Amino acid sequence: MANYQIAIIVGSLRKDSLNRRIARSMCAMRGDNLECSMVEIGDLPLYNQDYDLQRPQPEPYVRFREQVSAADGILFCTPEYNRGVPGVLKNAIDVGSRPYGRSVWDRKPAAIISASPGAIGGFGANHQLRQACVFLNMPVMQQPEAYLGQVTDDSFDADGCLKDGPLKDLVGTLAHAFHDWVEMILRARELLEHDAARTERAAKKTQPA
Ligand code: FNR
Repeated sequence: MANYQIAIIVGSLRKDSLNRRIARSMCAMRGDNLECSMVEIGDLPLYNQDYDLQRPQPEPYVRFREQVSAADGILFCTPEYNRGVPGVLKNAIDVGSRPYGRSVWDRKPAAIISASPGAIGGFGANHQLRQACVFLNMPVMQQPEAYLGQVTDDSFDADGCLKDGPLKDLVGTLAHAFHDWVEMILRARELLEHDAARTERAAKKTQPA
């Protein structure tokens, strides 16, 4: 099984974030072939289009864009704030999408997990984020869906990892599915590029000298 570099972006800056702990637990479960690293977003200045013209670009923007670019896939793990995406995450999305034509999100396979102590598991934030991903040309894993409700401090052990139980099982299933999703998207892309190159070579051969 191939190893993939996964950038995890957590939509909460809170030290004891449930979402960060879910993300960490997922990495721990799937360390063999999802090489996870957290990409921090708390230091990104609020996006301002004037920055697009600035040279050099703000250092946190450069660091963030490089980390996202280097990843094979993106895992978003986010709470819901007032039925939507937390501002800090939306800011990161906007920073990565610019300057125009140089979006670091383009074609990156992604998955979205939303977790909340509430019953509906951040459904609103999850789908609002999906909407941005559609526009950004990111193939987002559709199943299994990951609206994790009723997550509390009690869901985790003293090391901050999920306790054994249905939630941990679901997160394990998500990790497997995400691995397969990234593989499918990257392989399909490789095949398409290979086909395009072959077609181009064939076209050159048939051209009169
Ligand atoms: C919340 N919370 C929340 N929960 C929810 O299910 N739907 C919501 O719309 C909101 N709105 C909301 C707004 C703001 C400003 C805060 C601070 C909180 C509760 C939220 O799910 C809870 O605080 C989580 O623990 C936040 O996620 P992290 O930080 O633990 O990952």
